[in-house]
Amino acid sequence: MKLCIIGTGYVGLVSGTCFAELGNNVICVDKDKEKIKNLKSGKIPIFEPGLEELVKKNIKHNRIKFSSDINSSIKRSNIIFICVGTPINKKTNNADLKYVFQVTRSIKNNLNKYKIIVNKSTVPITTGDKIEKILMNKKNRNKFEVVSNPEFLREGDAIRDFFYPDRVIVGTNNKRTNRIIKSLYLPLIKKESRYFNTSRRAAELIKYASNAFLATKISYINELANLCEKSSVDVKDVSKGIGLDQRIGERFLRAGPSYGGSCFPKDTKALIHTADKFKVNLSIVKSTIKANELRKNLPVNKIHKILGKNLKNKKITFLGVTFKPGTDDMRESSSIKLIPYLHKKNAKIRYYEPTGEKKEFNKLKNVKFFTNIEDACNSSDLIIIHTEWNEFKQLNFKKIIRKKKINVFDMRNLYSLKKMKKNKINYFGIGR
Ligand code: UDX
Repeated sequence: MKLCIIGTGYVGLVSGTCFAELGNNVICVDKDKEKIKNLKSGKIPIFEPGLEELVKKNIKHNRIKFSSDINSSIKRSNIIFICVGTPINKKTNNADLKYVFQVTRSIKNNLNKYKIIVNKSTVPITTGDKIEKILMNKKNRNKFEVVSNPEFLREGDAIRDFFYPDRVIVGTNNKRTNRIIKSLYLPLIKKESRYFNTSRRAAELIKYASNAFLATKISYINELANLCEKSSVDVKDVSKGIGLDQRIGERFLRAGPSYGGSCFPKDTKALIHTADKFKVNLSIVKSTIKANELRKNLPVNKIHKILGKNLKNKKITFLGVTFKPGTDDMRESSSIKLIPYLHKKNAKIRYYEPTGEKKEFNKLKNVKFFTNIEDACNSSDLIIIHTEWNEFKQLNFKKIIRKKKINVFDMRNLYSLKKMKKNKINYFGIGR
């Protein structure tokens, strides 16, 4: 099918490339001309494992094109995917839909034949109704259908999540439209993925409800981790013990510093805003947000517990600074607040980050980026394992720190308490 993907961020670029891989004829549109120029030569603006190869392969097979001409791209396509950002409006905590509506107006001007408009951006309930209203006029009636098709792609696993989704959610009550979209996803559904057709508003809410539930699950185990620390229980045992119950499930029960990223913080707040609009109190999601905010002070308290009140000239090494492994994304990463705090306390901070130096810390004179783990850790007073990259999972601390007293704050509980004790390492985890 002829697809037009509008927006080439994490969602648009991955979805467009994967749809091309499935044999569709795809054109990806972005208003950023520089970005489009790079994409045409296969240069990818985001760090997503496997994406560069897939883009290059589909350019070679002439299945994917890139353009900043939104009008002709819409005209030549049958299905238009809206994949633009819906950033949080800091004042109202609402999802900012200006880009969605800008694109909708462009579509309205180019309805030269019947088109399906599929919204993949994360949007509050009733946004599909608003898109429909903008498009509707006497001339355009019956020339389009608006569908909600939320994405569930995790950064770092986005391609796998696209090809092996737990479910494909399609929000439309139009049977013909549903048949067309179902045929587009057919290759994935054959892989036992669950194709679920529901109403447009239900599909819009399912996206927020999923992310808010996952965020709640994380805040739940994070708060239990606090109780574990006080009662000498290892939270990893509790995660395992409850996760073996099929109704709970083992995933998303890893205690950590607090959840970050571009979605959970934004989507939980936007869901509360929507609920407030409908005068419904989502008290559990509000508690999830509050618990996560409170948790942001935890790493600081732990560092002072290990190194004392005065951090002046203390050498502190961060292994990883992104919000999770497999991405270069720093959005809402706990390092964003933690490193400037330690810098203000005149500590000497070094960091090794697999995805390279971060602009967020460039202006901090006591913060130094290293290109290898050994140099970053050598003679450090404290090693902080901030992000659970695989290369941090089997370190020989004695060899890389070369100091008698070895302090390790493992924010992702990667190491066994027993082994750390046996190797006489001053080891601190989370919830242990
Ligand atoms: C999330 C959702 O998983 C995905 O379905 C949605 O489409 C987009 O948002 P993402 O934000 O990329 O994906 O990352 P995810 O792997 O979900 O992690 C989010 C945050 O939760 C990270 O800060 C991570 O460190 C934290 N986390 C995750 C935990 O602290 N413990 C866990 O067990 C899992």
